[in-house]
Amino acid sequence: MEKRTLGRTGIEVSALGFGCWAIGGEWWDADGNPLGWGKVDDEESVRAVHRALDGGVTFFDTADVYGTGHSETVLGRALAGRRDEVVIATKWGNTFDADRRTLLPRDLTPDYARRALTASLRRLGTDRVDLYQLHIADAEPEAATALRDACEDFVREGLIRAYAWSTDDPDRAAVFAEGPHCAAVQHRLNVLEDAPEMLALCARYGLASINRSPLAMGLLSGAYGTGARPGAGDIRTTPPAWLAYFGADGQVAPGWLPRIEAIRDILTSGGRTLAQGALAWIWARSPHTVPIPGFRTVAQAAQNAGALAAGPLAAEQVTEVEGLLQ
Ligand SMILES: NC(=O)c1ccc[n+]([C@@H]2O[C@H](COP(=O)([O-])OP(=O)(O)OC[C@H]3O[C@@H](n4cnc5c(N)ncnc54)[C@H](OP(=O)(O)O)[C@@H]3O)[C@@H](O)[C@H]2O)c1
Repeated sequence: MEKRTLGRTGIEVSALGFGCWAIGGEWWDADGNPLGWGKVDDEESVRAVHRALDGGVTFFDTADVYGTGHSETVLGRALAGRRDEVVIATKWGNTFDADRRTLLPRDLTPDYARRALTASLRRLGTDRVDLYQLHIADAEPEAATALRDACEDFVREGLIRAYAWSTDDPDRAAVFAEGPHCAAVQHRLNVLEDAPEMLALCARYGLASINRSPLAMGLLSGAYGTGARPGAGDIRTTPPAWLAYFGADGQVAPGWLPRIEAIRDILTSGGRTLAQGALAWIWARSPHTVPIPGFRTVAQAAQNAGALAAGPLAAEQVTEVEGLLQ
């Protein structure tokens, strides 16, 4: 499977990244609603990261707020001694109370960006972040422009190598794309939810398209088709309004499962698992895409890394999927 380049920076990554939200463990919003994926075993997380490295994965995406710092700490631990083999992306923009593991209001000032970056570097145990991403999807373009300029300062100082905005709005992504060291957009993309406008923008500016929720938050693993539900403390059991895949009781929301069944045979062609097929669709969708599936076990890490060997779906299969999901 080929590699991908992060925009115009020349930074090369495996075509598959690993998303480190779930391995941050439990954290909550101010009302006590879960924002993590339930309890995790840090030793298993470290082993899973090592399994990813063994499988050829060189790109890891986290955020300062995942587990209120814990995801970065665990990732830094797992990558100790192997820093130069990998490309690390993290995010800023949310403040948090690490003692209470609670999300606090956003802070979009350049001063806070610098403080957040300093703290991320410490937790990750590194002297530079390869890709620094604004985590506030709906930030105002004026505030974002000032943050883009701050990121250019960070590049000049050697604290970061490139930056991106995590947003689903192409107009906002275009504000960051004007910056010389903007390398990517992080946005939602999976076979159930295409993002043609954002992919067009990535092609126009030569940016990497880093794809969050490539498995539709677990739906595209097939694990939740038979009445199984996510466990206690998992954000999917009390989903916020933006989380469309699961209902208030942790059941799969109506409409998704028949769509998965309609395309199951295509995704599982070539001996792929359903999850591997979902990743293969993303690679076939555009040469700019880098899916970053989340994980919490060595088995998931092995299966997802294994998708690299099978490569993208064929172009005809993408067309067929499009027809079936209309
Ligand atoms: N605003 C943002 O910037 C933003 C938002 C969301 C995500 N992200 C990033 O994108 C990453 C991935 O997106 P996501 O976490 O929303 O969801 P996802 O990648 O679509 O789904 C991940 C979940 O699917 C399950 N899974 C993964 N591989 C599997 C396998 N091989 N077999 C069975 N189950 C498997 C795991 O959960 P279970 O085993 O518990 O089912 C895992 O936590 C995140 O980790 C984060 O880095 C960023």
